[in-house]
Amino acid sequence: MRTKIAGIGHFVPEHVVTNQDLTSYMDTTDEWIRERTGIEERRYATKHKESTTSLGAKAARIAIERAGIAPEDIDFIIFATLSPDYYFPGCGVLLQRELGVTSKEVGALDIRNQCSGFVYGLSIADQFIKTGMYKNILLVGAEMHSMGLDFSDEGRAVTVIFGDGAGAVVLQPADKEGQGILTTCLHSDGTHAEELAMINPGSHGGYHLGTEKFGYPDPATPGGVFVTQKMMDDNLLSPNMTGQLVFKTAVVKFPEVINEALTKVGLTTTDIDVFVPHQANLRISQFVQKVLRLPEEKVVNNIQKYGNTTAASIPIALSEAWEQGRVKEGDLVCLAAFGSGFTWGSA
Ligand code: UT7
Repeated sequence: MRTKIAGIGHFVPEHVVTNQDLTSYMDTTDEWIRERTGIEERRYATKHKESTTSLGAKAARIAIERAGIAPEDIDFIIFATLSPDYYFPGCGVLLQRELGVTSKEVGALDIRNQCSGFVYGLSIADQFIKTGMYKNILLVGAEMHSMGLDFSDEGRAVTVIFGDGAGAVVLQPADKEGQGILTTCLHSDGTHAEELAMINPGSHGGYHLGTEKFGYPDPATPGGVFVTQKMMDDNLLSPNMTGQLVFKTAVVKFPEVINEALTKVGLTTTDIDVFVPHQANLRISQFVQKVLRLPEEKVVNNIQKYGNTTAASIPIALSEAWEQGRVKEGDLVCLAAFGSGFTWGSA
């Protein structure tokens, strides 16, 4: 048995933030951002009115409708995000409530795999469908990065990259020969966990990086604090990234994990009809395209409009490509992602 995508949808907030708009907060330029990342603009959700869950719910409703089912037909929820509404519980249960499907008490799973969250989620869902455990899985990737970014000069290398948005798919058992997910490949290497991370608030208490830096109380004192005054004073409550290390590793791991998937199913890069990479940086996608010798028309890039939406980037790009008629029945579609962890994967 294989798993098919029965319905797909995406939602991005209305508010467009151009590179030029960002120059009023931080020392950056439209030229720098375009040249280094390919990004021209991104969307920001409306504070206090929207959240990661509400964006995800909008995408989910579209995917559910396109699958020709009702929200009550969903029998399992998987939510991938790095910018959840709450520290806990996760967005899965919030989405279940927002969709009004609490009566069936279906399971809701949150996954925190950042950029590779959608590919990991797809693989998890695929296993549940293949074993016959579930028939209609809702998988959502959604992010509201704009709430957690550092808009000072210090945060500029990270902040200019990220945007808000959501994508969703409904997964069902495939009903036709040759249809569905052929394989998924998942990997991780925690060696560089802190090189693309938001480590606060967290339970580490300085364990990995020294308590001094974060102003934690005396270790002998019971209890603790997730957020210290020092963290606030020293601006340690936003994401950090060693951009060049991430870039250099990504351009190796993307082709590697794509070739791994192709080899597993006895295909080659020339068989790929549509390649939807995680939208990390246009330069990364172009580099991977070149290594795989894929013509430009086979590669889906929309980072120019939305920035990097992490767990949402693949479903948004796939949904747009499908709406534009770029993904047709029978096409061999390749998805791949790399990011924080480091974690990476392909489908
Ligand atoms: O989903 C996965 C998540 N992340 C990624 O995939 C990111 C991968 N990495 C990248 O995309 C790139 O490394 C960046 C776009 C983040 C940065 O590009 P870079 O070419 O690696 O630049 P850099 O970090 O080496 O910085 C070059 C210069 C520095 O100035 P100096 O030291 O040369 O004077 C930075 O301070 O650019 C400066 N800079 C900026 N200047 C204007 C950094 N950010 C900005 C900015 N505007 N926003």
